[in-house]
Amino acid sequence: DCPNCCDMVLFGALGDLSRRKLIPALYQLERAQLIEPQSRIIAVAREDMPAAQITERVSDVLKQFVAENERDDDSMARFCKRFQYVCMDFSDNASYQSLQQCLEQKQHQRIFYLATPPALYATICKGLHDVGLTEEPTRVILEKPIGHNLSSSKDINEEVGRYFNESQIYRIDHYLGKETVLNLLALRFANSLFSNNWDHHAVDHIQITAAEQVGVEGRWSYYDDAGQLRDMVQNHLLQVLSLIAMEPPSRLDAESIRDEKLKVLKALRPINASNSQQMTVRGQYAKGFSGEKKVPGYLEEEGAKENSETETFVALKAHIDNWRWSGVPFYLRTGKRMPEKRSEVVITFKKQPHNIFHETLPDLPPNKLVIRLQPDEGVEVEMINKIPGLGKQMQLKATTLDLSFDETFKKRRIADAYERLLLEVMHGNQYLFVHRQEVEQAWNWIDGIIAAWETTDESPKPYPAGSWGPVASVSLLAQDGREWDE
Ligand code: BG6
Repeated sequence: DCPNCCDMVLFGALGDLSRRKLIPALYQLERAQLIEPQSRIIAVAREDMPAAQITERVSDVLKQFVAENERDDDSMARFCKRFQYVCMDFSDNASYQSLQQCLEQKQHQRIFYLATPPALYATICKGLHDVGLTEEPTRVILEKPIGHNLSSSKDINEEVGRYFNESQIYRIDHYLGKETVLNLLALRFANSLFSNNWDHHAVDHIQITAAEQVGVEGRWSYYDDAGQLRDMVQNHLLQVLSLIAMEPPSRLDAESIRDEKLKVLKALRPINASNSQQMTVRGQYAKGFSGEKKVPGYLEEEGAKENSETETFVALKAHIDNWRWSGVPFYLRTGKRMPEKRSEVVITFKKQPHNIFHETLPDLPPNKLVIRLQPDEGVEVEMINKIPGLGKQMQLKATTLDLSFDETFKKRRIADAYERLLLEVMHGNQYLFVHRQEVEQAWNWIDGIIAAWETTDESPKPYPAGSWGPVASVSLLAQDGREWDE
């Protein structure tokens, strides 16, 4: 027996998420020797294939999704040996017996990763329960989307909650596993320079951008049902916003951090039919460019319906109605087919109350803290310095203190979010996972926006692929005398 060993059961092991993210991430943990030698990975899927074939399938995945210089024979062999394959029809009770038999061969901790459509969560959890596989300390990992709105997310949480306690449930938001998103905690709570200037006294406004260069990438029917607000804002952007805006947690543990994030979500000012025109912009990409390449518009993508009103771009102005952030807008934007992939947070500080340099620099630009989440991870501070020289008048210049992670932490590989998250589940640490209440509170706010959009007959505004979204996104900030950081 090995009390620290675990059996990681991947439901949907042959699907896209497993192939692109989960299997490669587990392999990286193998390479770093972070998995107990006897732990197993049980691949579960519907495909009827000889169990021995799983090794071949796994090594194909590694060849496709792991960089060549990160594949070594020893690690690959060790890794493939961990796999077992169980073919299951998720809706058939008898299938769960074979899984149970496989798991009972070892006294290991059990982790079930549901990399399946959420519509199957309830069926799978019940199946596991009926064969006695849900007892503590077993854990279950759920992927997004947890619902399509507040009511369906409650249904999912309720169903899963029948068979697992909240302390056993790990809801993934992969942004919480990103190195730079975690660094927000270090930046804020390990540096008094920032923690003492993190409120409405010092901050003018905050921007959060998550731009993607890709379009819908063959996922049209899933995506069309969701749209960018549900797909990116409800989860990733609101999680980043919560980490930026929350009060200092008293400890670095799941309960303290999740409590503080929840308070932020509760303090979000509702957006509804009366204010949505001034607070939101939605767009849909038309044909244009991705780099040099010509690309079709959203409505011309493979599988598209002609008349979809789904947004592929959202810009929002959010207010957090609490003491710390009173009067400080948070501008959020995210879109597909933007000019580049770039996620970042920009904190613009208030201007100096009086400018003694007005003769040479009449408009003293504000300081900015730019946190580059991806790519080119790093932190920048924009500040004013004197240009060296003996001239009679002092010449000033806006300059940047640039801390690139690549240069500062030389040779440190930046782990993929899933590597960290899978490791945290194995350690039983929930601080990087989303609590049920957070998911539901976020939906509550998002539902208000969607309801407001439904009351207007306005369609999303078109923007050419390869641009920063519709012009209205610029006006959203211009109406407040501000502009997006480019
Ligand atoms: C996923 C969304 O959750 O996040 C995708 O469903 C999106 O539409 C992706 O492309 C973005 O993740 P990342 O890590 O590339 O920023």
